[in-house]
Amino acid sequence: MAFETIFQPLAFKNLTVKNRLFRSNVSGRFDNYDGSGNQARINWETKFAKGGVGAIISSFVPVHLRGRIVPNYAMIDHDRHIPFWRAVGKAVHEHDCKFIMQLSHGGRQRDINGIEYPKGLSSTSKSDPLHGFECERATPAQIAEIVAAFAEGARRAREAGLDGVELHGANGYLITQFLSSAINDRKDDYGGPLANRARFVREIVRAIRAKVGQDFHLQMKISAQEFNDALSPLQIGPSGNTLEESIQVCKWLVEDGVDALHVSTGSFFPHPRNPAGSDLPVEDLVKSYDSMISSGERTFANFLLFHGASGLLARRSWNDAAGPADEIEGKNLPDARAVKAAVTVPVICTGGFQTASVIERAIKAHDCDAVSMARPLIANNDLPQIFKRGEDRAKEPCSYCNRCLVNVVENPLGCYDQSRYPNREAMVAQIMSVFDPPAFR
Ligand SMILES: Cc1cc2nc3c(=O)[nH]c(=O)nc-3n(C[C@H](O)[C@H](O)[C@H](O)COP(=O)(O)O)c2cc1C
Ligand code: SF4
Repeated sequence: MAFETIFQPLAFKNLTVKNRLFRSNVSGRFDNYDGSGNQARINWETKFAKGGVGAIISSFVPVHLRGRIVPNYAMIDHDRHIPFWRAVGKAVHEHDCKFIMQLSHGGRQRDINGIEYPKGLSSTSKSDPLHGFECERATPAQIAEIVAAFAEGARRAREAGLDGVELHGANGYLITQFLSSAINDRKDDYGGPLANRARFVREIVRAIRAKVGQDFHLQMKISAQEFNDALSPLQIGPSGNTLEESIQVCKWLVEDGVDALHVSTGSFFPHPRNPAGSDLPVEDLVKSYDSMISSGERTFANFLLFHGASGLLARRSWNDAAGPADEIEGKNLPDARAVKAAVTVPVICTGGFQTASVIERAIKAHDCDAVSMARPLIANNDLPQIFKRGEDRAKEPCSYCNRCLVNVVENPLGCYDQSRYPNREAMVAQIMSVFDPPAFR
């Protein structure tokens, strides 16, 4: 068989996955405002399970209503959501695919506030620098409440029959807001030296283990490097955690009971390096960014910035920070390799993967044990089957244009690169296929 390594099973301590191809986390606003799930999410996840990935790592699933980043994401903050997630798991399992839920809390980093909690809760009281979402600094009692919410989320995922959970410890969301030297400005036991900044996530891991036992899969997505200064003209701040600091955090997490690490990058999201794009699609961005205008202190200014000549400048500084378009595939592999060399658990790497020979080489070289893919699978849901046929790439690969990303706050998640389709109608039909079958028949 071609690409034999890719199709070798991967055994974690508590979970075996049939191949080395994971669907990376992709959030879309498919669900109900109150956090209950919808048929569209089941349809969405089933597409990838049918396409042949070994496991799906879910979208951002809030463990607490205040940790939601945008309305219409299915949540895991209450036992009433367990039956929905059981249905998602069942649909995916029918295609011999595992399902890992991403337990998440957005902290101060959001897209649309929603009506329940206009202010986020964070390690700091400083607004997020990209959009200016306001937040309050969490008290020790609030921290304990969030830690307990993560543990309850893991328990519910287990009761729903899912195959494991992932902590969203990457990309600027709440766990990053504690870990990051660039964001965390606390003077108490949760701020200052790395050991203090890591206290929050370590408490979460221990609380999850106390709640679900040792035999349920638990992994953590981490930004191995933060590159917090990537947009220095916008004065986002100092560079943030180094690779060495993140490796130390990974070692602690493994000691505490984490079974795998998922290596990402960047202290905010989206970040020029994540998802790294061939170009910032400003025309699409202004069309959907208007829905965020009233949400943050900087969103109206950003909306104006993305227009006209200033939009071209924003585009140029974003693209400069992103680096060359031909270096997107495997961008995080050097970091994954360094993490893998330091820990005893399997490492999954995210970032641009869509060529079988590149993935095969990375695994054979022990840079990582598996890869996770987001945009390439949005573009070609059946990419694993394409690889299985011995083809190195899809005929119409993902162009890394990031139009899926900039549309997602306002429009259904899907591939918006019209050049990949015969015409606009075909593109729209593909995007809208997530609503088939419909919720009520
Ligand atoms: C539309 C979209 C939504 C995403 N949502 C999430 C998310 O909810 N949680 C997360 O950890 N990463 C999220 N990501 C990041 C991806 O999981 C992935 O790590 C990143 O896009 C790099 O992989 P890729 O080059 O294969 O797209 C998202 C990416 C995109 C494009
Ligand atoms: S819109 Fe399509 S081609 Fe562009 S990055 Fe997203 S999935 Fe890839």
